[in-house]
Amino acid sequence: MNETRSVETRSEAPLRMGVIGIGWAGQQHLEALSARADVEVVALAGMEAELLGQLADKHGVASRYERWEDLLDSAQIDAVVVAVPTALHAPIAIAALERGLHVLCEKPIAESAERAEAMVAAARKAGRVLEIAFNHRRRGDIEMLKGVVDRGELGRIYYAKAWWLRRSGIPQPGSWFTRKESAGGGPLVDIGIHVLDFALHLMGEPAVTAANATTFAEFGPRGRGGEPSGATDFVFDVEDFATALLRLEKDAALTIETSWAGYRAKADEIGVTLYGTEGGAELVITGYKPVGRLRVFKDDVGPEKETELTAEPGRGHAAVAETFVATVLAGPDAWPAYDGSLALSRARIIDACYESARTAQQVEVSA
Ligand SMILES: NC(=O)c1ccc[n+]([C@@H]2O[C@H](COP(=O)([O-])OP(=O)(O)OC[C@H]3O[C@@H](n4cnc5c(N)ncnc54)[C@H](O)[C@@H]3O)[C@@H](O)[C@H]2O)c1
Repeated sequence: MNETRSVETRSEAPLRMGVIGIGWAGQQHLEALSARADVEVVALAGMEAELLGQLADKHGVASRYERWEDLLDSAQIDAVVVAVPTALHAPIAIAALERGLHVLCEKPIAESAERAEAMVAAARKAGRVLEIAFNHRRRGDIEMLKGVVDRGELGRIYYAKAWWLRRSGIPQPGSWFTRKESAGGGPLVDIGIHVLDFALHLMGEPAVTAANATTFAEFGPRGRGGEPSGATDFVFDVEDFATALLRLEKDAALTIETSWAGYRAKADEIGVTLYGTEGGAELVITGYKPVGRLRVFKDDVGPEKETELTAEPGRGHAAVAETFVATVLAGPDAWPAYDGSLALSRARIIDACYESARTAQQVEVSA
């Protein structure tokens, strides 16, 4: 086991961090952390040997590992990023927390709420930070919309609809992404979780009481809906389209719609519509533009009023990294609030959706 430095007693030296996973997500974290003066990325793990060397050289990372176990065993670090296939989140995060490390883990927290519960329990037992990367809520347009809501401009929001719809974007068909065992599900848990997260965040975190969901798998099993992978052991046992009606406390509701593939307009679209007692708002992000079209609808000044607001691009993973590092450096009093429980609540909703789709029944969501 490595000798973990005690962050409680650390000086002004930078936080020493490791990053596990060098796919798209791991690279976002590596870029974000390497740009910080208060962090030193000292260890990197990934199974793509050439890429590992290139990234480590580019960011001056001294220690490179193929296996995550070796990184945790050898690297002298305070904290670690977990950016690997979802089913590895729980084993790596728990092993890291047990070694006294703080953990910044990619979304979804885990492939099931049960596994997520074990991660949160490990964070609480270790007294360390477990934070999950919900970078979409850190978009500039979402943050601007949150300001509109928090100023009370929309009144009480009683209904919202959030969506992330791809025309033909099954990620790496046949890879870990398209296997229930390793991913936990399809677009609902992969991209739907981002819009679920920011919709509930915008609505002020109402409790979700029940889920009524449907899922479909019309493209993936036929080898359509994304770049063919050529995998000989092609498996696609998740959905490629999902929709859910979520009942919320205080007579409110939220609809989620998400697809990896489906016949619709070519440009992929992310969006949210909020319906409040004093106003409404709609944000539509087409083709992954850094800033979406944000409109606020009101009629409280005479004739119907529509205002278009323009946000700055958000900082995504850089903002996630900033919050994580600031929380760790703030010291032990700040840590208990970041134990992964928000992400666990999202996992319980996703589980309930899959159960509802499987049984064709409404399913209650446990608190
Ligand atoms: N927040 C976001 O916007 C966002 C975007 C994409 C992916 N993700 C999440 O990030 C995670 C990774 O996704 P990705 O797209 O980067 O996946 P990927 O398949 O492109 O990369 C996975 C990485 O994990 C590494 N890995 C796998 N097994 C390993 C092991 N035993 N030891 C060390 N490394 C190992 C691989 O070598 C690879 O570098 C997933 O949980 C995914 O849901 C988040």
